[in-house]
Amino acid sequence: MTARAQVRGVGHYLPDRVVPNAAFEDTLDTTDEWIRSRTGIERRHFAAEGQTTSDLATRAARAALEDAGLEAADLDAIVLATSTADLTFPSAATMVQANLGMERGFAFDVQAVCAGFVYALTNANALILSGQAQRVLVIGAETFSRIMDWTDRGTCVLFGDGAGALILERAEGDGTAADRGILATDLHSDGRHRDILYVDGGVATQTTGHLRMQGKEVFRHAVEKLAATAHTALDRAGLGPEDVDWIVPHQANLRIIKATASRMGVPMDKVVVTVQDHGNTSAASIPLALSVGVARGQISRGDLVVTEAIGGGLAWGAVVLRW
Ligand code: UT7
Repeated sequence: MTARAQVRGVGHYLPDRVVPNAAFEDTLDTTDEWIRSRTGIERRHFAAEGQTTSDLATRAARAALEDAGLEAADLDAIVLATSTADLTFPSAATMVQANLGMERGFAFDVQAVCAGFVYALTNANALILSGQAQRVLVIGAETFSRIMDWTDRGTCVLFGDGAGALILERAEGDGTAADRGILATDLHSDGRHRDILYVDGGVATQTTGHLRMQGKEVFRHAVEKLAATAHTALDRAGLGPEDVDWIVPHQANLRIIKATASRMGVPMDKVVVTVQDHGNTSAASIPLALSVGVARGQISRGDLVVTEAIGGGLAWGAVVLRW
């Protein structure tokens, strides 16, 4: 018997306010047509005034708990991927813990920007396999609208707010790729590329700062690195592209999503795409896409799912799991 971290529930939350591309035409030299054709994005959700990342995360967590038929008291840990925590500290994860009324266990944030959910899943998997926790709530939640420079058309039209959550639970498998649960993971970072995607504020500047990106450079790294990490993770699981039921990629740009699927040798009808409705929600994009993919009837129990993401750091990675 082999311990496996299996998905027990999934859920998401999107703020009510939906902003179509055309809304940017009034204040910026941009068009709906440019944004659609260069990115695939059509609209995004923005948090209401005063609504924080931990608020969105709590809503997604409640949805995942309901889906799993569990209470907060049944959880041992919360791992929350975010780069837009409410405060410098404490972690947004501990805020969610309090909001859920969870009085035991432990909670912490993972900060790997757009790769955050892949990092969080990998950490939660390790907690379960090492026996530290039986059930872990894994959340990706962001309010990137708080760190946009609204005068920079190269970035502010790309991002959105939202949250998604999964509950992972320890179960026994046979140790084969037919098991449900996380089958393989692969993580990387390369801090030499810190200047192509970063926020120019923080403790060092005593400001929150704004997101800065050399889009073309990030694009180039994304296309090259995402397919490679997905292949590595599949290899580790003893599987190949032909075994994939769904790629659930980080949702930054439809052109990156298509190029990665093509390099992986997986057709686009096996890719869950939500970027048109959510924009780039950084660490929230994969759990949002997983939850929406299930709600649409695309992902079902037993399906082989590959998630892959890249973001600031650069940090990137992939997780192969059987749903
Ligand atoms: O989630 C973390 C990872 N992030 C990503 O994966 C983002 C990766 N990068 C991208 O998705 C793309 O590089 C962008 C969507 C950011 C940009 O697309 P691009 O095809 O690489 O365009 P570009 O940056 O080369 O810009 C082409 C032109 C430029 O004008 P000139 O210099 O050719 O006159 C830009 O100034 O498009 C201009 N441009 C815009 N035009 C209208 C940039 N943003 C806009 C805009 N509206 N919003």
